[in-house]
Amino acid sequence: MSVVEERPDAGRAAKVAVGEAGRRRTFAVISHPDAGKSTLTEALALHARVIGSAGAVHGKAGRRGTVSDWMDIEKARGISITSAALQFEYRDAVINLLDTPGHADFSEDTYRVLTAVDAAVMLVDAAKGLEAQTMKLFAVCRHRGIPVLTVINKWDRPGKDALELMDEISERTGLTPTPLTWPVGIAGDFRGVLDRADGTYRRFTRTAGGATIAPEETLPAAAALAREGDAWQQAVEEVELLEASGQDHDQSLFLDGVTTPVLFASAVSNFGVGALLDTLVDLAPAPTGMATADGAVRELTDPFSAFVFKVQAGMDTAHRDRLAFIRICSGVFERGMVVTHARTGRPFATKYAQHVFGRDRESIDVAYPGDVVGLVNANALGVGDTLYADRPVQFPPLTTFAPEHFAVCRGRDAAKHKQFRKGIEQLDSEGVVQVLKSDRRGDGAPVLAVVGPMQFEVAQHRMEHEFGAPVDLDRLPYSLALRTDEASAPGILAAARNAEILRRADGELLAVFPDKWGLRVLQQNKPELLLEPLVAAQL
Ligand code: G4P
Repeated sequence: MSVVEERPDAGRAAKVAVGEAGRRRTFAVISHPDAGKSTLTEALALHARVIGSAGAVHGKAGRRGTVSDWMDIEKARGISITSAALQFEYRDAVINLLDTPGHADFSEDTYRVLTAVDAAVMLVDAAKGLEAQTMKLFAVCRHRGIPVLTVINKWDRPGKDALELMDEISERTGLTPTPLTWPVGIAGDFRGVLDRADGTYRRFTRTAGGATIAPEETLPAAAALAREGDAWQQAVEEVELLEASGQDHDQSLFLDGVTTPVLFASAVSNFGVGALLDTLVDLAPAPTGMATADGAVRELTDPFSAFVFKVQAGMDTAHRDRLAFIRICSGVFERGMVVTHARTGRPFATKYAQHVFGRDRESIDVAYPGDVVGLVNANALGVGDTLYADRPVQFPPLTTFAPEHFAVCRGRDAAKHKQFRKGIEQLDSEGVVQVLKSDRRGDGAPVLAVVGPMQFEVAQHRMEHEFGAPVDLDRLPYSLALRTDEASAPGILAAARNAEILRRADGELLAVFPDKWGLRVLQQNKPELLLEPLVAAQL
């Protein structure tokens, strides 16, 4: 490696980067669909007073001020496919709230967003408890070592018993729940919470439609007992049970992913939302040095570095732009700086840098570790790419999910083959779909592979409307993909008639199978063949 000259003000920049990183809390709210993620996002923003009333920042189709409906398909389905980041100041902290798609079909997208956060807030519906997507997301967080704060939402509605929910969390996720607050009043009769830190009562007051910040009143225990009687007494007794079983917050166990602090809330009435923000500031970790591909660490004080965790094209149909969202890992970002694109070694000018949330965009002049920056016109950048200044670095590639649905993609109009190729390449580099090829099928008929079938719809829609190359998708009967190599490929094809070998753009060879039965027989009969699960498939 050549000796690199660093900027003359590198020492000062390093100090600023550490100071500013210390104020950052970068996290995502994740949940099974309908647990209240959009509602909580609005409530958090409301609490930070960045908007006048709930609903103006983010929401689903049909709700006032829906801003993430830029894509027809999203509008039609009432889902939010896109994701970006909302930044606001709270107390002396800077909160970066990364949005994740609500629909399970886009879980790969959610997974990529989780590579860019330092903590996650898991929302659980009090009536439904842990659902399929909740379990999968807990597993992803465990796999990535992301500390999780759990929020039991919708306590204003009848639901499960609070202690039962705690048992469910510990039995099914293996995490020990350590409630920070405990509800006063059963689900459906939410009066307030007992704050376990000091034993006081935070009493909630309802506001019309939850549209403004719900006032909270703090009362000492004696006053709480006088006011709430049995409901307070029950909360006190249940908290004693938690203490007896050692379910108390321990910061290092939380950061190590052994425990999950729990809060009770009603996002729609803005109850418990202030406590969540305070908890994020007090307990969620600030950014720290980031592991690099060669096993070293890029420290916060190192020159600027970042990685692309999301690429989004077509957000503004008038401009046909392509945005790459980067998470800053070290140093200071200044708009206009010329950085290096690690994959190609080429310079990349960061002339247009923006905060993006829904349809709102704002220019960014300077940003620090933990921040998310949307780079405009980032045609050269793909998901997982590294950018750096001065001293080279490469962050590890983002793991991809094992696809479960496959379809051959063919252009309807042979004259549009250029547009077809360009579109397919872009969808691949954005991670909208995985594009798999084989000599047998040729470049004109690649196989698109996805985790959720709705990704097909997005791909098909964009091929037609954005790239002007309408396509037909013919579903293939595969449902499983495993990693293999050149040496094993002929053996697999000879022994499993229903299998196929396909190559991904990153060179990885995948063996695809219709079902696990044929695969099992093959593995038993030919144990010498390389057939490994793709990492995320184990989640
Ligand atoms: P999601 O993003 O996780 O999918 O959930 P979203 O916020 O859209 O919330 C799903 C539904 O749950 C919405 O009702 C929402 O109002 C409701 N909800 C969210 N938080 C709470 C809560 O704390 N208490 C109660 N009772 N309900 C809550 P909807 O009928 O689907 O939509 P809407 O017409 O009410 O907006």
